Formats: sequence, C-alpha cells, structure tokens
Amino acid sequence: MSVLIKNGRIVTAVDDYHADVFIEGEQVTLIGKDLKVEADEVIDATDRLVIPGGIDPHTHFDMPFGGTMSADNFETGTRAAAFGGTTTIIDFAIQTKGESTLKGLETWHEKARGKASIDYGFHMIVTDMPDERLGEMKQLVDEGITSYKLFMAYPGVLYVDDGTLYRAFRQAGENGTLICMHAENGIVIDEIIKLAKAKGQLAPKYHAATRPTRMEAEGVHRSIAIAEVAGVPLHIVHLSSADALEQVKIARDRGLPVHAETCPQYLLLDESYYDQDNFEGAKYVMTPALRHQSNQGPLWDGLRMNDLQFIATDHCPFCFKGQKDLGKDDFTKIPNGTGGVETRMSLIYNAGVAEGRISVNRFVQITSTNAAKLYGLFPRKGTVAVGSDADIVIFDPNRVETISINNSLMHHMNFDYNPFEGFKVQGYSETVLSRGKVVCSKGEYKGRVGAGKFLKRGLYDGFNL
Ligand code: URP
Ligand code: ZN
Ligand code: ZN
Repeated sequence: MSVLIKNGRIVTAVDDYHADVFIEGEQVTLIGKDLKVEADEVIDATDRLVIPGGIDPHTHFDMPFGGTMSADNFETGTRAAAFGGTTTIIDFAIQTKGESTLKGLETWHEKARGKASIDYGFHMIVTDMPDERLGEMKQLVDEGITSYKLFMAYPGVLYVDDGTLYRAFRQAGENGTLICMHAENGIVIDEIIKLAKAKGQLAPKYHAATRPTRMEAEGVHRSIAIAEVAGVPLHIVHLSSADALEQVKIARDRGLPVHAETCPQYLLLDESYYDQDNFEGAKYVMTPALRHQSNQGPLWDGLRMNDLQFIATDHCPFCFKGQKDLGKDDFTKIPNGTGGVETRMSLIYNAGVAEGRISVNRFVQITSTNAAKLYGLFPRKGTVAVGSDADIVIFDPNRVETISINNSLMHHMNFDYNPFEGFKVQGYSETVLSRGKVVCSKGEYKGRVGAGKFLKRGLYDGFNL
C-alpha cells in the first residue's frame, strides 16, 4: 500500500516548505517537489499543513480513581485522539501497592490489547518500591517502559514518601530512565482539606481553594532536589502555576536535566470555572486545580522560552452524571480529572499560532517532537522525515470550528460534557494517518480498532531539550 500526499506545506520542529510526501507501507520513503511516483492513494494537501501526528504523552484510559473508572477506554480514547490529530499516546500503567510492577504492566497490556486505533506506550506509576523490587525497574526497561510516575499527592492512594522517591529515583537514574513527577505536597494539602471540611466548605470550588500553588512549587522544588542527589533526569507533569514554573526555571538555569509539561486546561481555563451553579464546577475538579488567570501568561512564556517543553492533556475524564456526582455533598469525593485528548491540537494551534503566541514550528515541537525526544520515540515518531513512521496529520490551518459536545466533528470522547464547551478554534485535523493508513478523514472514522501497536520506548533522550 502506498500513499502520496501532494502539494502540502510540510512543517516539522525546524522545517517549513512545500513538497510531496510518499509513503510505502508504514513509513515515509520519499519527500520532494512534484514527485512523479505511482501511488495507491493520492491525498491533495493544497492549502494544508502536513505535520507529524500529535503525541499526547499523558493519558489515563480505563483508570480506576475515586471508586470509579475514567470514562474513556483504549478504544474510545484512541479513536477520539485520532480525530483530534494525535497518533501516539503514552498512558500510565499502575502498580497495585505491594504487588509487582510487571503485574501492573500486564494489566495495562490487557486493557489496551486489540483496542487501540493508534500507537501507544506506557509509563509505570510506582506506588511502592522496597529494595527487593528495585530489580523490576530494569526488567521494565526491557519491556519498553522507560519512565516512571511517582506521586507526592493523594495520600493513602498513590502517594509515596520521600524515601521511596529517593530509592526509585536512584534506580531509575542508574538504568538511564526518566522520572515523571506529580509534584504537590499532598500531606499539607490534606491538612488544609480537613480544616475546610470542618468549616462545612464542601462545594467543588474548595477543591481549588485547598490546593495552593505554593504546595505545587514546594513539590517541584523538593523533587528536583531529590532527583539531583539521586542522579536522575526529572520531568514535572501537568505543571499548572507560575509559582511551580519558577522552580523549574531555577533548576534549568543551573543546567539540571529537569523538564516540564503543561496542559491546555491550565493555559486556557481558570479557577473562576469552579464558581458555577448546580454543581457544574465539578466538571473542572482536576489535580492540580485550575489556577488564577494570572498564571496563564507565565505558562505561555515558559512554552516560548523552553522552560516548558511540551503540552500533554492529562486526559482522565469522568461523566458529569453518574461519576462527578459521587462528590455531590463533598468535593473530596469528586473523581479528579477531565478530558482533552481530542481537542489539544486545535486548542493549541488556535491559542498558540493563530493568536500569535508561538510559531508554527514551536507548535509542532510542543505537540509532538519534544515528547518523542524525551520519551525515547524519536525519530520514529515526532517528525515528517524519510524513514520515520508515516504518522501524519493533514491540518487545515484556516478552518474554524466550535468545540461542543454537540459538534460531531469535535467531540468523540466518551464523556457527557466538554471542558472547552463553546470555544471557537481555528485549526482542524482534517485527515490523520497512522503508520501510512488513514484513520480519520473529514470527520469519518476509517481506521481499525486494534490497528494501534504497543511501542517499546528507548532510554531517556532529553539531553538537548
Ligand atoms: O486530576 C487528575 N489529574 N487526574 C488524573 C491523575 C493525575 O494526577 O494525573
Ligand atoms: Zn498527576
Ligand atoms: Zn495524570
């Protein structure tokens, strides 16, 4: 099977030129002007960008949380991702406390097997790491798992203490792998929550009020210090505040291998969303919480100045009816998370490129290339080049759509609201190819459930990020 993409404007992290792309089988085999080749399928990309498929390196499909499961599984989540121009996701497998991480990995393989429309990898969430289990971390590398997420938040659930952090960090560093950090001081936050509840403050808005940005900044600072001593590169996930970003900047200015991502919700939504009537604020209960709007400018600056290397979604949605309402009378029982695996590319093109905050090359870097580099997938993923997987988005940079649960072009995710409801966005993923096969085109699903493959990732490769 061969595909010729004609007349497009190819944009990578560094290039921007008009040419044709020829795909044979699963890979790009030729790029050039006016290619004279026979192809089984020809796609006209006139007036379109031809960009590498998006990489969302932070999703939680089919994840148990707060007594329920995230609403998207690998079938619905990867299909929605493809509709939005994302062709690779990295999800978080979870180690059950006291059990083997390898068992957690097998559970996630079972969840994903035969379900995905696009390629996927896994990180491993480590919930305990006694000395006798440290050897598993090397076995995980052999299985293609080269990054581990640990939590300073959620005491009694996913939280680990500083000793566990240090042990896991040291081993990860020795193995040439990467630590992903949920950096928030969950122990202090739980004390603040106790005080709020004693005062009868139980509405969704108290989720944000009880999670000060200083406690995120403290977590970032502490995890960086522990990582420096342990000798491991560190990546701060879902960074939400200027306060926390400041700590990343200080570390990077010192030359430490510290990286960070933010998410569309922290760039485009703010804490005022919690002030809605009829429990609507619960839709925005996520961790870290939405922040004051004044944080958004510094986060965009961080993206421009490369203190933030990419944008992930932390896609972890729960339906408003039947899931979020578990916390109707107590915000601590609202399952934490929202969804955006489908809307990320359009939202960031619109707010980033169309509104003049970042260049189109930076758009590609922060939605695809840099995640591929940090997580050991580059150059197989994250660029349009001869020899790379033909994960390609034919992107219409002019088309305007409104994000809405009622717009069948923009919402295929399996939950009953959209946190970006009503947002008008310029930029639409018109045709999406995964390893040379069209998965979605003009709003129609053309892929195959189960066509997505598990990606064994390489070691940490973020030295120049
Ligand atoms: O609210 C969130 N972010 N839920 C998912 C779990 C996490 O901390 O990433
Ligand atoms: Zn987290
Ligand atoms: Zn997450």
